[in-house]
Amino acid sequence: MHAGISDLARRLRDCDRLVLFTGAGVSAESGIPTFRDAQTGLWARYSPEQLASPEGFRTDPRTVWEWYAWRREKCLAAAPNPAHLAIAEFIAELQRRSPGVTLITQNVDGLHQRAGSEAPLELHGNLHRLKCFRCGADGGDWPETLDLLPRCACGGLLRPAVVWFGESLPGEVLAQASEAGLQAGLFFSIGTSSLVYPAADLPFQAKRRGAFVVEINPQPTPLSRHADLCLHGAAGGVLPRLLAALER
Ligand code: NAD
Ligand code: APR
Repeated sequence: MHAGISDLARRLRDCDRLVLFTGAGVSAESGIPTFRDAQTGLWARYSPEQLASPEGFRTDPRTVWEWYAWRREKCLAAAPNPAHLAIAEFIAELQRRSPGVTLITQNVDGLHQRAGSEAPLELHGNLHRLKCFRCGADGGDWPETLDLLPRCACGGLLRPAVVWFGESLPGEVLAQASEAGLQAGLFFSIGTSSLVYPAADLPFQAKRRGAFVVEINPQPTPLSRHADLCLHGAAGGVLPRLLAALER
């Protein structure tokens, strides 16, 4: 047993404020491409400026809609993997001990909810919800077809309710996430490259307030040398082992 894992299981048992912060790497084992993987990442094959920005949507809304429809199909076809399931079991197990467990995700795929984690803080929105590009109103369900691009009652075009490059994150959600991090005794950063702000600042804020910061990632990131413990491996392998150690 990795020495770090048994010590970490002890810390988890004694912890009353835990944050689990996830990125695209948690969904990688469900077959959903991450963003910055050199070979398979989305940004290696598509232009984020064209597909994930307000300018890209203004220029060519149909292409942006078709790209998100393709991404949504992949998400619907995917199943939660052992990482999502272990996180849901973690939260259930720890909430029996103390109420202070917060799940914060940068992912928009909805797989945490499908794995049983209720109400994660979704910093970058959710791919399965729509909103109006003009007035921001809730946009209801995903359209059956894209023959006519869907419009809001105000006449504006609807868009996927995700945060695009150059846009600010939902203020209330970011404030809740930041507050949870500042209160955390234990902060897990799982499957994120720690490159995109302000989300990437959350583990650093927690660390400055004295949290024990754990990173789970097969690759090093800018957070690695600041973390108290780095578990270099896939989340779907590390988290079930940690859960087993916790339940001993
Ligand atoms: P950015 O550098 O434009 O920053 C995003 C917003 O956060 C801006 O309003 C900026 O002022 C603010 N910000 C930046 N650094 C901050 C900090 N340290 N503290 C507080 N606020 C800060 O980010 P970006 O790379 O252009 O991307 C914008 C957001 O959209 C990011 O969170 C990114 O992850 C997200 N995004 C989502 C998708 C998707 O498909 N879900 C795709 C691309 C980008
Ligand atoms: N288990 C854990 N981590 C993994 C796994 C895995 N099985 N597979 C890949 N990773 C790691 C990679 O090493 C990388 O550090 O997941 C990370 C994925 O990084 P990114 O592709 O940059 O995804 P993310 O950090 O979520 O991106 C942040 O940027 O483009 C925006 O809005 C988008 O939310 C996204 C944000």
